[in-house]
Amino acid sequence: MFDKKFQNILVSIILFVFVKNAEANLTNITEKNINWLTSCRPCADTLYECSQCFKDACVQCVLEIPYTSCLNCMNDLIDLPSNFNCDSRMSYHQAVCKIHCRMNNGFTITSRDGFCDEYTGRCVCTSIALPTTPHPLFNRTTASPCEYKIKFEKSSSIEVIPENISTFKPKILVEPNRPDLCTFRDRIKVKVRTKQFSAIDGSDYLGVSTDLEFNSSKTWHELKIDINNDRIIEPFEFFTIDIESVTPDIIPIATPRKIIYIEDDDYNSPNGIADDDITDVFDYDEASSFIYLMYKDKFNQDINFPDPNSIYPNNGGITTSQDRLKIVMQIIGFYTINIHTIEVNNPHECNLNSFNLRRLNSNMQPYEELMNSFVLNNRPIIDVNYYKGFQNLGIAGDSPDYLEINLLNTKDGRGVTKCEFRAFASKVYD
Ligand SMILES: *[C@@H]1O[C@H](CO)[C@@H](O)[C@H](O)[C@H]1NC(C)=O
Ligand SMILES: *[C@@H]1O[C@H](CO)[C@@H](O)[C@H](O)[C@H]1NC(C)=O
Ligand SMILES: *[C@@H]1O[C@H](CO)[C@@H](O)[C@H](O)[C@H]1NC(C)=O
Ligand SMILES: *[C@@H]1O[C@H](CO)[C@@H](O)[C@H](O)[C@H]1NC(C)=O
Ligand SMILES: *[C@@H]1O[C@H](CO)[C@@H](O)[C@H](O)[C@H]1NC(C)=O
Repeated sequence: MFDKKFQNILVSIILFVFVKNAEANLTNITEKNINWLTSCRPCADTLYECSQCFKDACVQCVLEIPYTSCLNCMNDLIDLPSNFNCDSRMSYHQAVCKIHCRMNNGFTITSRDGFCDEYTGRCVCTSIALPTTPHPLFNRTTASPCEYKIKFEKSSSIEVIPENISTFKPKILVEPNRPDLCTFRDRIKVKVRTKQFSAIDGSDYLGVSTDLEFNSSKTWHELKIDINNDRIIEPFEFFTIDIESVTPDIIPIATPRKIIYIEDDDYNSPNGIADDDITDVFDYDEASSFIYLMYKDKFNQDINFPDPNSIYPNNGGITTSQDRLKIVMQIIGFYTINIHTIEVNNPHECNLNSFNLRRLNSNMQPYEELMNSFVLNNRPIIDVNYYKGFQNLGIAGDSPDYLEINLLNTKDGRGVTKCEFRAFASKVYD
């Protein structure tokens, strides 16, 4: 590690490069955390996507934008002092400043978002003066400002819906923080639209894009999103519902984005039809020709048990007294596969709580970050597509060589019981 003096010199050098104006005051540098300069660089778009956020919802928003990995940026951003140094010409510095201000100051009548000032080279969180007469939106009877929030009725930022739901009707509402002090006096216009990710607009669901008006007689709206109940066997796939803008813009948005996963119901059903493009590569007929599996226990010792075949769905699943297990999967033959998701197939029998995954190179050394499972409707899953921004597993033409899947812990803290997996992937032929 650098010593402190050296670190300060380093800070000065870096900042000197950034600050355009030679007059800018570089002598008063108190910042310790400059990690955001590297960690936030790839996150500018994500930060912009969250530019309507406020307070805690900013963290939530940034971390939940699919296909990016902005966790480190967010951590570094949380540590930033107010008035940190930045370069106004760099768009990601502007984005960092904006989110920093909205996260810390919230977005009330008195404080707004920030900008990186060209002359001082500092992030400035702007504020607007409290109006002497109440904003027409609010009937303010005391000095305390009224805040309204736009939010989804179900506050969870990830929601799972069954494929056979037919029409999904999420509710969006506008809510005052102090109904005793605040009443609607105006109309609030909200632009909402769905955005496709692994669930495709037009084939998996029918997207909506709409302007909603909220007022004293209409404080909530229901969206209507048709979901296509096909018979094709598919992984969990998601789209998002984004609240894009609100007029007037003094209204904070509690959750600007909601992620909707569609849970397929065709896999274990006799009516399910295999997809031409995305198949389960852990299905025995598929896998036996090109996947080789090894097991290791928590001490990384090779073990013969369980039978490698039992990882395949409908084979009874892995049962072992180990509560941690490593599966190393080698792709052999001429195939390259792009993995979309790895899911527990039988969540009601399998007691697995979480697992993770990473790629290994041919020397069995990991060369990427771990992807962690999360639980969708009781089913542990790794959505590789979701992590696509920094993982190569989902990108065409990429050869995974080896995959390491770590079964991390079980719901009851005991050994792994009857755990079957399914792995949805496209096969790429050279
Ligand atoms: C730098 O900051 C110090 C203390 O705030 C101030 O006295 C000085 O005038 C500033 N220099 C410039 C060039 O702005
Ligand atoms: C340095 O900046 C801090 C706040 O940013 C301020 O309180 C302090 O007075 C400044 N010190 C000097 C010597 O300019
Ligand atoms: C504001 O609200 C108070 C109490 O709810 C009410 O008495 C008053 O008439 C309202 N004023 C306006 C302009 O709506
Ligand atoms: C959807 O399928 C589940 C079983 O998978 C069933 O219990 C439910 O009634 C179905 N819902 C509709 C709306 O058909
Ligand atoms: C409130 O908004 C609805 C649309 O959401 C509109 O039909 C209605 O006329 C509005 N009412 C008032 C009082 O503006």
